[in-house]
Amino acid sequence: MSSHIRIEWIEPQDFERLFEIEQAAHLVPWSMGTLKNNQGERYHNLKISVNQQIVGFAISQIVVDEATLFNIAIDPAFQGQKLGFQLLQQLLVQLQQKGIKTLWLEVRESNHNAQKLYEQCGFNEVCVRRDYYPTPEGKRENALVMAAYLSF
Ligand SMILES: CC(C)(COP(=O)(O)OP(=O)(O)OC[C@H]1O[C@@H](n2cnc3c(N)ncnc32)[C@H](O)[C@@H]1OP(=O)(O)O)[C@@H](O)C(=O)NCCC(=O)NCCS
Repeated sequence: MSSHIRIEWIEPQDFERLFEIEQAAHLVPWSMGTLKNNQGERYHNLKISVNQQIVGFAISQIVVDEATLFNIAIDPAFQGQKLGFQLLQQLLVQLQQKGIKTLWLEVRESNHNAQKLYEQCGFNEVCVRRDYYPTPEGKRENALVMAAYLSF
């Protein structure tokens, strides 16, 4: 049986499941409070579901004609199945339709899986922010700043 994949807006009733995914997927996860605070008018937040189960989400904020991807996560049990790719492609299409010119993001220098996904989706490295992220060992790690230009 083929899976039924849907990409839709995040709703308040989704937060518990999103928080589960957040904790399972990230090295240093957001708190529930941070997750809930990153919602609202200026955000463009999408979830991806397989057979009606939420398996991932993307959170981005729009300022004038630019947007920043604050978070993207796929449930580890569903990673490596092109779901992150489909979610990010759909986000890029929707942002372009809204007139957004550039999508920015930051990614840990050690997060090669995410960097590969971003390169596949047309992002280029712009600069490095030194010691930007905390690590679980109490140290700091560089961030790569990447951008995708949507005027295609
Ligand atoms: C990064 C993330 C969102 C990618 O989602 P995904 O559904 O697993 O990725 P996809 O299956 O769409 O893969 C797209 C490409 O990314 C790379 N990639 C992603 N996950 C990978 C993995 N586990 N192993 C190797 N390559 C991987 C590959 O290049 C892949 O393309 P390919 O299949 O043609 O080789 C997901 O792995 C995740 O949630 N990671 C933890 C949270 C995180 O790091 N978020 C990003 C920083 S905020």
